[in-house]
Amino acid sequence: VKKNSQEETCTLDIISHSSTQTQRLGNRLGSLLRGGELLLLDGRLGMGKTTFTQGLAQGLGIHEVISSPTFTLLKEYGGQPHTIAEPGQPGRQKASWQVSLPLYHFDLYRLDDPEEMLDLGFEDYFYGSGVCVVEWADKADKFWPAERLRIQMKMLSETKRGLLFVATGAHYCELLKLFQKNAYATVSS
Ligand SMILES: Nc1ncnc2c1ncn2[C@@H]1O[C@H](COP(=O)(O)OP(=O)(O)OP(=O)(O)O)[C@@H](O)[C@H]1O
Ligand SMILES: [Mg+2]
Repeated sequence: VKKNSQEETCTLDIISHSSTQTQRLGNRLGSLLRGGELLLLDGRLGMGKTTFTQGLAQGLGIHEVISSPTFTLLKEYGGQPHTIAEPGQPGRQKASWQVSLPLYHFDLYRLDDPEEMLDLGFEDYFYGSGVCVVEWADKADKFWPAERLRIQMKMLSETKRGLLFVATGAHYCELLKLFQKNAYATVSS
């Protein structure tokens, strides 16, 4: 994770070699979430935003099928109890506890005017205690809270995708560091 202390942003670059791997990355990130996170997914059609979100939902313990909410702007998934483990400190036992986090899956592809976000009451979700994932987040760029994790996906080949994670704010930088530890175990497997 590269850190830029002035703007409090941290970045991480990962190459995914398959849709399975993209799902697994989502799963690893999902399993680290505590609630209240905002994840902004950007990248053109078919880059893997929904694929990543499917893994993320699994990581949150949600086993419903996650489809693209393109025609509805928002789909909500009830939280399922799942166990999160506090990262172990050397010489100390790991603590773990159960949480149920709802997932709010947005897809702004069909958003005509960013102002609609206000009319629909979406802002409440972004400052709430669930987990928000937003596909096509750049359609409403001026609305995002300063602190969030942006994931930019681009095509490298038919089956390869470049994922650039950009965390803004101390909480998201910490999250990204934990994710890196988890993700590299994934990437090499
Ligand atoms: N490394 C990869 N990661 C993710 N998806 C991949 C990868 N390689 C191939 N794919 C394929 O690319 C497609 C990604 O579709 P997906 O619906 O996740 O994209 P999306 O970004 O959500 O698109 P949209 O903008 O239409 O919502 C799937 O068909 C998937 O199998
Ligand atoms: Mg999609």
